[in-house]
Amino acid sequence: MTSAVKRVRTVGDREATAVKLLDASLKHSFDPQVDVAWNEPWQEDTFFLPEELSTLYGTDLWQRMSRAHRIELSRCELANNLAFGIWVETLFVQMLARHALSWDPASNHLRYALTEIGDETRHSTMFSRTVEKLQRGPYRFNVADRFATDLLRAFSTEPLAFVAVLFVEEMFDALQRIGMRDETIQPLCRQTFRIHVVEEARHMRFARDELFRVIPTLSRAYREALAAAVAYGIGLVVRSTKTPEMYAEAGLDVAEAVRAARSNPHAHEVIQRSVDHFIPVYRELGLITPASRLIWRAQGLTV
Ligand SMILES: [Fe+2]
Ligand SMILES: [Fe+2]
Repeated sequence: MTSAVKRVRTVGDREATAVKLLDASLKHSFDPQVDVAWNEPWQEDTFFLPEELSTLYGTDLWQRMSRAHRIELSRCELANNLAFGIWVETLFVQMLARHALSWDPASNHLRYALTEIGDETRHSTMFSRTVEKLQRGPYRFNVADRFATDLLRAFSTEPLAFVAVLFVEEMFDALQRIGMRDETIQPLCRQTFRIHVVEEARHMRFARDELFRVIPTLSRAYREALAAAVAYGIGLVVRSTKTPEMYAEAGLDVAEAVRAARSNPHAHEVIQRSVDHFIPVYRELGLITPASRLIWRAQGLTV
């Protein structure tokens, strides 16, 4: 066992965590079918995402865009991000359901996993209704990334599934917290972000506690593989925010927009900040290794 593993914190047992999370689910759950004002029309002259979360915010291209054009881009970017959310949540549901098959059928641990699957199906239904209301998209995601997630779905192990779920949830959480507090954006968008942030806090606790139990029992080679998977996965999430068809529908020159987004220091800083927020836990878990740092660095991120 390496020194990185020895420092791992102690968490309660599986049943204790699951009981707490089932209780929290009972107290703080939403039904987006009734808790979101779907029939309210979109507000005029209002952003769909905080401006500073746009992939083009602060670029020369952004400076040349009118306010109306920026709002249109934020509408397309939200449709893109929510479609990505549906993709990854559906993937999580598949992985969780598959692994839960081998758990004790009478356990709180299993019942919480089923509760989480229920949360995710409500979230993806909420995202789908929002995308429909936005009347933008769908846009195709990177083919290689789709293939990578097909592999993940087919061959995931429990630790890999929890590692993948946790960092995507952490990244979305950091960005949606900004959105839910921004009073200048569409109220419907703020409400969906709020619902998601509240319910995802439990999912992150579930994955985090499980990883603190399981990672110390894994071999060094296994941990290295997980560390590489997280580093690669970050690249996948970042690429998903810059879908070329999204810029085309927003009426931009695709090549110019993709180039501007890729070299946008502000967008890069937004990602780095959300990474900074969750990386201490991954470091504590021993999932930031010298080898994985090279992958992080190749993607322009410091950990
Ligand atoms: Fe979710
Ligand atoms: Fe979740």
